[in-house]
Amino acid sequence: MRIAHISDLHFSKVTLHPRQFFSKRWVGNVNLLLRRRNEFHQDKLLDLIQTFQKEKVQHVLISGDLTCTTLQEELREARRFIDLLKGAGLSVLTIPGNHDHYTKSDYAKKLFYDFFPSSFGYEASPYNLKEHKIAVKKLGEGWWIILLDTALATSYFSCHGVFSLQIQKNLADALTAIPKADKVLVANHFPLFTYDSHPKHLRGDDALRDMLAKYKQIKMYVHGHMHRHCIADLRNAGLPVIIDSGSAAHTERASCNLYTLQPNGVTIQPLFWKKEEDSTFSWQPAPEHSLTW
Ligand SMILES: [Fe+2]
Ligand SMILES: [Fe+2]
Repeated sequence: MRIAHISDLHFSKVTLHPRQFFSKRWVGNVNLLLRRRNEFHQDKLLDLIQTFQKEKVQHVLISGDLTCTTLQEELREARRFIDLLKGAGLSVLTIPGNHDHYTKSDYAKKLFYDFFPSSFGYEASPYNLKEHKIAVKKLGEGWWIILLDTALATSYFSCHGVFSLQIQKNLADALTAIPKADKVLVANHFPLFTYDSHPKHLRGDDALRDMLAKYKQIKMYVHGHMHRHCIADLRNAGLPVIIDSGSAAHTERASCNLYTLQPNGVTIQPLFWKKEEDSTFSWQPAPEHSLTW
């Protein structure tokens, strides 16, 4: 079975509404005007639809930051793109990032889930992402995906996530219910390790690392947030393979991954948005990595 992993689409819309000054949104708008608007261009996302169809992708995983400040206009734009993916016959799995629970009010209302309700209530699990911050789905024979929502509204100059005790308990329960011989891919917005500034950290990352080491069914931990493509094979350290897809909308270094899940392994095919000889840009494959367990 084949999964595409894209992340950090960052659909954006600057708002001039004075209400923004009563929330964190004004920080996001300043950021947008000064930097972020040029940092991401979403037009290249449309080319992915054909690529995914050609590569016979079944599921598209979007690991958060679909928007910049959780504005309804941004959520609608992101949904329009997701509707195109669905219209092309692809199933889409979404989790929110810190930019999708941007203000305290949007987070309290769980606005993200008004637009992406398909992210919860998957079969064969009592959990849904909106209420329990975890969702479980069987992808096919021998492979499961667990989605985590560790994002939350934070103070003005922080963008951390939290792997809470509630998520920890639900994740342990879910893993216990999955047959020991099956393999699990865990998807979260936040990385497991970061050398960046402290405000970007996932709080509770020690507990998450302990769980990834303890539950040997977890073979892959995939995430976004850093906008940097990275594949880290940490199996010698007793951890899963950890993969950052990078941002699929980044102006200078857009990237994403295709995962072909097999009974005893995975093939990871990175795709990068690159200039061709005729100076046009397209999604081009990089050398693939085949891993077995
Ligand atoms: Fe992001
Ligand atoms: Fe993020």
